[in-house]
Amino acid sequence: MNANNLLSVNDASRNKRARGPSTRAVHGGEKQHRAHYSLTVPIVQTSVYTFDGTDALLTYVEERPFWDEPEREQYGRHGNPTVYAVEAKLAELEGGEDAILLSSGMAAITSTLLLLLSQGDHMILSDESYHTTLDFCENFLPRFGIERTVVPHGDYAALEAAIQPNTKIIFSESPTNPFNHCLDLERVAEIARHHGVITMIDSTFATPANLRPLEYGIDLVVHSVTKYLAGHNDVIAGAVIGSYDLITPLRQAKSMLGNVVDPQAAYLILRGMKSLALRVQRHNANAQAIAEFLEGHPRVRKVWYPGLPSHRDHELAGRTMSGFGGVVSFEIDGDAEDAYRFLDALEIPTIGPSLGGVESLISPLAVMGYALLEPEERLALGIRDELIRFCIGIEDTGDLIADLAQALDKIA
Ligand SMILES: Cc1ncc(COP(=O)(O)O)c(C=O)c1O
Repeated sequence: MNANNLLSVNDASRNKRARGPSTRAVHGGEKQHRAHYSLTVPIVQTSVYTFDGTDALLTYVEERPFWDEPEREQYGRHGNPTVYAVEAKLAELEGGEDAILLSSGMAAITSTLLLLLSQGDHMILSDESYHTTLDFCENFLPRFGIERTVVPHGDYAALEAAIQPNTKIIFSESPTNPFNHCLDLERVAEIARHHGVITMIDSTFATPANLRPLEYGIDLVVHSVTKYLAGHNDVIAGAVIGSYDLITPLRQAKSMLGNVVDPQAAYLILRGMKSLALRVQRHNANAQAIAEFLEGHPRVRKVWYPGLPSHRDHELAGRTMSGFGGVVSFEIDGDAEDAYRFLDALEIPTIGPSLGGVESLISPLAVMGYALLEPEERLALGIRDELIRFCIGIEDTGDLIADLAQALDKIA
């Protein structure tokens, strides 16, 4: 490290003006000086870290508990420098003290709940949580004597009424999948604080480019990193961001649960995250234009997008988010056959689950994601056969709208 570089690092930390989302996405959490003077963070592809001799080993064993940064590891399950780089960037993007990267979004959710809840505890979650999260809380956690109450999304009175003396966690999403319902996070945080309950928000749909739940007093943010954060439909991962006090035990649990991310995948995530702010701007703009187009189309019955004044949470989303996201859900004015005809006529979006990547993906939800439910159960969740979830990529707006228009015309 030369003197000039030293100066620039120190200047940067002295002049701590708040940086914009793109600068944070590109540089956030990244050290200025790296092995071999490489600009990019190296992929440290190893499962083992060695010691030059017993002196080095003893120094590691004796001094490690007092180190601020867990840079030096001895085994890959406990940590990896490429993974740490992703975690530092995530913490910076969400404005949290610390972050942990885990093997999937579900690993992030289940590990956190398993760590924070013990036998006899109770949690509350929204009825619009991701269906696998609901499944875990309803059918898996009770095996360990952990009970849950499911409350209607956005019903703050029901939320507060559901709190019991043994309630430890309030879990929700904002915006939700697939109807983009949003939460007043400040209000949820206030209710929880009053009762000494931890709040946890799945912010996968929003990303830190559109919403930063920690700024509203939420304790923990979880992400399916698979989606917008990684952004290229090529990797599975999850993350939890929050205070050192909450993340440190999760880091210890990771060494036991073993739900780690491979360094190659960590590098793909890091690379993807650099363009997060830019990509999300395009996702937002595309989705807004498409939602407006669909809402005005005679073959579309209803559109759910928070950027539309017709959406239930338009005002709340406008007040709390810097963009409305990239998912537009809508119902074809017709039946399942009409919906399939429309989907099969599309030339740009591909039929597939997931969201948040550069490629547009589209799905008829009744038979993708909700196919195992009985028709009455689906209807109770508002999932009709003609409901379509469009997870809009970063293609050109005009091309996407032209494609939707020609496919809607194919419905007789
Ligand atoms: C809102 C939300 N949370 C969590 C998950 C689970 O993430 P993963 O598939 O990375 O485990 C998903 C996946 O679709 C999701 O949409």
